[in-house]
Order: sequence, then C-alpha cells, then structure tokens
Amino acid sequence: MIYRFIIASIFLGGLIFFNSCKNEPDKKVEKKETSTAIKSAVEDNHNDEYIQDYIKKGVAIAKASGKTLKGKLTAAVEKGGLQNGINTCNKIAQNLMDSLSNAYETKIKRTSLKLRNPKDKPDQDEMDILIAFEKEVKAGNKLKPTAKKLENGDIRVYIPIFVDKVCLNCHGKIGQELKPANYSLIKKHYPNDEAINYSEGDLRGMWSITFDEK
Ligand code: HEC
Repeated sequence: MIYRFIIASIFLGGLIFFNSCKNEPDKKVEKKETSTAIKSAVEDNHNDEYIQDYIKKGVAIAKASGKTLKGKLTAAVEKGGLQNGINTCNKIAQNLMDSLSNAYETKIKRTSLKLRNPKDKPDQDEMDILIAFEKEVKAGNKLKPTAKKLENGDIRVYIPIFVDKVCLNCHGKIGQELKPANYSLIKKHYPNDEAINYSEGDLRGMWSITFDEK
C-alpha cells in the first residue's frame, strides 16, 4: 500500500518535474526577464537564434533522460521498496548518463551545489551558473533554461532541477520524509553526501548538456 503511494507520488512528481522542464524560453520576453546574475554568467547571448535552438534541443534531451532515469527508479522502488531504489540509483545513474550521452552525441550531466555523488561535481563554468541560479531564486525570480558558448566553442545548455515531494524520500530532512534507515543506506554508498534537507520547490541542481561544436 505504502509502495503504491510512493509509486503514485513518483509518477505525479515526474509529471510536475517534466512540466517544469517544458518551460521553453519565450524569445520576445527573454531579454527583459534575464536578470543580471544570469546575464553575467552567460554573457547575454540569448537572442541569438542558434542559441535558442540549442536550448530547445537541450531541454528535450534533459526531459527524455529524466524520464528514463525516473522509469528505472520507479521500477526498482516498485520491486523492492525505497532501499532497492537507492541501491539501483547508485548502480545505474552514472552509467545511464554515459549511455544517454552516447545516444544523443552530447555530454549529459546532472550537477548541484550540494552533492550526493562526488562524480557529479560542477566544473567552474557550471559552478558560476549554479550560483547565478541560486541568486535568482533568492531574488524571487523564475528560472528558465539557459545556454552559453564555452571558450572552446562548445555550446552548453543548463536546465534547472527542482525538488518535488517524491524527491524528499531521499533528499529531505532526516527523521521526517527521509527515514533514518534509508539515510544510513545512502551514507553507505555516499559517505560525503550533502544532498539532504531540501524542501518541496527548492532548486536541487541542474542538467548540464554540452554540445560538441569544436
Ligand atoms: C530512491 C532515492 C532517490 C529519490 C526518490 C531521488 N533521488 Fe536524487 N539521487 C539519489 C541517489 C542515490 C543519487 C546519486 C546517484 C549517482 O550515484 O549518480 C541522486 C542524485 C541526484 C542528483 C545528481 C547530483 C548529485 O547530488 O549527485 C540530482 C540532481 C538529483 N538526485 C535530483 C533528484 C530529484 C529532483 C528527485 C525527485 C524528482 C530525486 N533526486 C529523487 C537518490 C534519490
């Protein structure tokens, strides 16, 4: 029964999460709405037609990748509960990002300022964007997917990831949504985990999708 509830939440959470990703930037208002923090981080190149195309592609890839990841996680929780979900996520997340990267011929990554897996560590460029995103959230502004041409010519698209209710089972507050037994298991896999204490609606991190244009 409880698992049914979790599955339903994951499904519902997924819908909300994916819908938030659907938020494609509106060209007409983009310039006006892009705040100073994001502008300085991406050098305000949003009006370039080709950057807009990359943003669209990046959003579609992040959406498809998130769906695949969530599908596998849901199946694991359904089969063996949250602990099985944690073990499965631990086994599959990195490989999945690699194989999806190959399939889409891009580099697909999830990253955050508060990490669970140290392998998801942001590089300097991603760090700048994550900090800019945080500033935006603090200022009460709505985040949108954004993009930047890197120094080496690659184009990188950044899509914010928000926390919904179902995420709290593994990223919430210990003793509340996050059961101590589940957190012990998480700590076993990720001794330096920082990705807890989130609340619904918080910014969790972002997708970083890099298109090789060299
Ligand atoms: C069953 C437990 C579980 C649930 C539910 C869960 N996560 Fe995670 N999350 C993990 C684990 C485990 C990892 C580390 C995966 C790895 O090793 O790459 C992780 C990693 C991440 C990362 C990558 C950055 C990092 O810290 O390593 C993001 C972003 C993330 N989760 C967001 C979410 C969001 C958003 C939700 C809800 C839609 C969610 N998670 C639900 C267990 C979970």
